[in-house]
Amino acid sequence: MVSKLALLGGKPLRTRPFPSWPIFGTAEEKALLRVLHSGKWGRLQGDQVDKFEQSFARQHGCSHGVAVVNGTVSLRLILMAAGIQAEDEVIVPPYTFLSTATAVVEANAVPVFADIDLNTFNLDPRAAETAITPRTRAIIPVHFAGQPADMTAFVKLARRRKLILIEDAAHAHGASWNGQPAGSLGDVASFSFQSSKNLTCGEGGIITTNDERLAAACRSMHNCGRVPGGIWYEHHVISGNYRLGEFQGAVLNCQLQRLERQAQIRERNGRYLAARLSQIPGLLVQQRPSECTRHAYHLFMLRLEAEAFGVPRAAVLQALRAEGIPCSGGYGFSLPQQPLFRHRAFGPYLPGAGRRLDYANTRCPNSDLICREQGFWIEQSVMLGTRADMDDIIAAFEKIQGQREALNLWARKEKA
Ligand SMILES: Cc1ncc(COP(=O)(O)O)c(C=O)c1O
Repeated sequence: MVSKLALLGGKPLRTRPFPSWPIFGTAEEKALLRVLHSGKWGRLQGDQVDKFEQSFARQHGCSHGVAVVNGTVSLRLILMAAGIQAEDEVIVPPYTFLSTATAVVEANAVPVFADIDLNTFNLDPRAAETAITPRTRAIIPVHFAGQPADMTAFVKLARRRKLILIEDAAHAHGASWNGQPAGSLGDVASFSFQSSKNLTCGEGGIITTNDERLAAACRSMHNCGRVPGGIWYEHHVISGNYRLGEFQGAVLNCQLQRLERQAQIRERNGRYLAARLSQIPGLLVQQRPSECTRHAYHLFMLRLEAEAFGVPRAAVLQALRAEGIPCSGGYGFSLPQQPLFRHRAFGPYLPGAGRRLDYANTRCPNSDLICREQGFWIEQSVMLGTRADMDDIIAAFEKIQGQREALNLWARKEKA
């Protein structure tokens, strides 16, 4: 007997919680106490942040890592270190967290939005190429949800058009493209360690690169413009203090030990869920190119086509949550539609050309469709569950689709 939908008063498919986040243990406790008692709480006194930078960079295919206070500052410092000048243009996707674009504004440069691919949810290299103008200096593909953007195409494009290629790898710790780690696929990359991320210390970020000159410029900029060999109060460029502290460094060193195993679990579960959910009419799982050799599954993402599935997204989300499956619809707006961009509320930044850009009329139909109607997210901690947990997610979608008529009736009544 099929049980009634939980949203309509039936028994929820599951009441057990999925894995919670963050995951930590005595290793983190001991490491934090060691830093506490050492009295060396800043990176300039201790060795935890140094150690982390080296291990993380190495693990991500890079010879340099510069840890900073978050994954927004890292993007801004990269742009400044790369020599982006006032009102240069930087191409970014519209479907990403706002920092990818606001870091550009904060570097006094102009974000230009190019649409994403409707199937991979990543910046479309053809749309990016179309957006190039004589003012374009850089492109920032985001490895959205943890799946690398088409870096084969972006590397070719960036070389051909002489642009700086910056990876926003905030979702992509441990991901890879043709076997090469995210973070080492462009000229320079930015990662975030904010609370929700696959590797976290609460707040933090890192810049990774194999470019010695860029690394030196970022290192100087994260430390008030100091340079090696300079005296303490000697500052060479406009910047500030964006150094990560030793407590965060200590936590990250422990969390990094856990990353590979967690990444393997997410990958295994992600592949399984993708294969099974794709068989359900109306569910279009993030399309994975064969070059994606490791998806970080910061999010398990799909599009829900209401007509083919039989129920609109909002009701499916509500019904799934009632069955005990945590999920969300993700971003409600493409970035150009955010009030911040529509009204160009840039404060003192971009007094000239940036003000002339009409974001309210920027069209990114693929991103808009996903935001408005189809996007569907399941978070990375859920992806750390067991095979049985994944089966519950699949069963919940099937249960909901099986009772679509009752659910539609309920949704119509709710609306009325
Ligand atoms: C794609 C993307 N870029 C950049 C950031 C900014 O990172 P942070 O929150 O550490 O500043 C985030 C974080 O949420 C993100 O999701």
